[in-house]
Order: sequence, then C-alpha cells, then structure tokens
Amino acid sequence: MGRTSITLGGVPLNSTVTNASGPRSATREELLELSAAHPGAVVFKSCNPGGLESPDNLKNPGVDYYAALARELAPKNTVVWGSVVGVTEDEIVEVARKLDEAGAKIIELNLADDFVANSVGPFKSKDRLKGLLKRVREKVKAVLAVKVPPSVKREDAGAIAAIFKEAGVKVAVCANDLPKGLEFDLAKGTVKAPQGALSQTHAFYLVGAGALDVVAVGGVGSGSEAYLAHLTGAKAVQVGSALIKEGVGAIGRIDRELDQLLEQYGKSSVSEIIGQVKFA
Ligand SMILES: Cc1cc2nc3c(=O)[nH]c(=O)nc-3n(C[C@H](O)[C@H](O)[C@H](O)COP(=O)(O)O)c2cc1C
Repeated sequence: MGRTSITLGGVPLNSTVTNASGPRSATREELLELSAAHPGAVVFKSCNPGGLESPDNLKNPGVDYYAALARELAPKNTVVWGSVVGVTEDEIVEVARKLDEAGAKIIELNLADDFVANSVGPFKSKDRLKGLLKRVREKVKAVLAVKVPPSVKREDAGAIAAIFKEAGVKVAVCANDLPKGLEFDLAKGTVKAPQGALSQTHAFYLVGAGALDVVAVGGVGSGSEAYLAHLTGAKAVQVGSALIKEGVGAIGRIDRELDQLLEQYGKSSVSEIIGQVKFA
C-alpha cells in the first residue's frame, strides 16, 4: 500500500486522486487513457438512459455505452466509478442499476447539476431525497455516492448526512469551496481562519462522524491543494480543470506531489492527515 492509497466507502483505491466526472472522461478513448495512465479509480462522465445532446455539460451517448465500458475495464482491476443523471427517479434508478450490473464499484448520483435539480429536485425536501436514495439503494449493490449541489448550505449538512447514512449512501462528493486566499501551513497542518467549517467538504466531514466518506471536488490542481483538501476532511479528491488543461498526466503528477509532501512531513499514510486541520 502506497502513502496515497485509501479505502473509500469500503472500496480500496490505489490513490486518493481521481478525475472528476466529465472532463476527459466522456469517450471510450478518454476513459481507456485515464485507466492506463493512473492506477486509481476512473470516474465516468454522467449519463442518462438514452443519451443527451444538451445541456452541453451533460452531453453523453447514454448508459449502455458506459455499461459496455465498465464491462471492459472492471476485469482489468480498474475501479470503475459511474455517474448518473436523469429527469425522473425511474431514470436515475435504471441508469444506476445498469452501471451496477456492469461492474461499477462506486456509483455517484450526480444530484449537483441543475438538470436534475430542475426535474427530480431531490433537495427540494428531505422526503424526496430519502425516497430517491432508498429506491436506488434497493436496486444497486455498489457503493453509493451522492454529488451534493454546491448551493447546499453548511448548516444543512447534518440533516443531509443523516439521510445519507440512513439510506446507505457511504460517500458524499462535496464542493472544495475553501475561502479565497486562505492562509495555511501544510507542515504544521494549520489554517489562519475563524474556527468552523472551511468548505462544504469540511462541513460534511465534521457532521459525518466517520460514517460518511467525503470526496472534495473543485480547484484541485496540485499536490498542496490535494493535501489541504485532505486536511479539511476529504478522503479523496477529484480533478477537473487541471485535467482539461494538462491532459491525463495531471492525475499522476498530483498524486506524486501529494506523496512527496506526505513524505516530507513524516506521514506514512494520507489517512494520518484526513480532517486533521488545526486553527492557528
Ligand atoms: C467540460 C466539463 C464537463 C463536466 N461534466 C460533468 C458531468 O458529466 N458530471 C458531473 O458530475 N460533473 C461534471 N463536470 C463538473 C466536474 O466534475 C467538476 O465538478 C468541476 O469541473 C469542478 O472541478 P475543477 O475545479 O477541478 O474543474 C464537468 C465539468 C466540465 C468542465
């Protein structure tokens, strides 16, 4: 086990660093390239039952395309991490079930996109969220993750995390929305900020009480940004924009930088720093 390996929702990952759903992860070529370049998990583009031409950010060829890819990659020891969208609960259940049957180990319900918010509206009420998650849970064996809308308020994290736990959702994919210009010292593991949740990721980590694993997405493009996300509670990080700019090499580079920082600060595993941020 390397310094940056981790168990997420019970699934062993060779690295805490993965791609974010969407950027360079929409086509077979891109996904094969990602899986060849990095031994960590591979997160698929969000997909729906029949494919979408719009909105542009959710353009996809449909779940059958990704299920075929999951069947191709899963036997090669790639941890397949699917992502689901839909305009009805039935669609979300159907897509999750197909990815599950095809061998995805982690299934992320992308409830963060307006496309889902404006149709299914899972965060419009607690009962709606509970109902949807329960239906998916009943049909899917894989570890369930939910991508949380960045608009979910920090003070609602406790109630939502309680619903996730009750519904058997093991992973929350949260915004890494740390304050701009935050001063930090990685060697000491400190930040200069008033005590409290520093980001949506940190808020969900604090209320999760160890029962919920949190993945940080947003603004991770270097080993130090990954390190800071881990200090504030992330068990894994997803990389989007850096992947677009730099290509698949970005994931391995961030993993190596994180590994070097851990070594430099005398940590034998990334687990030692998760959620350990201190307020200077
Ligand atoms: C071109 C593009 C396509 C995206 N497609 C999806 C998607 O299909 N599903 C999803 O959950 N997020 C999608 N996202 C959002 C990313 O997963 C991620 O949350 C966002 O880019 C923030 O991370 P970053 O700051 O590292 O870019 C997309 C983002 C971009 C730029």
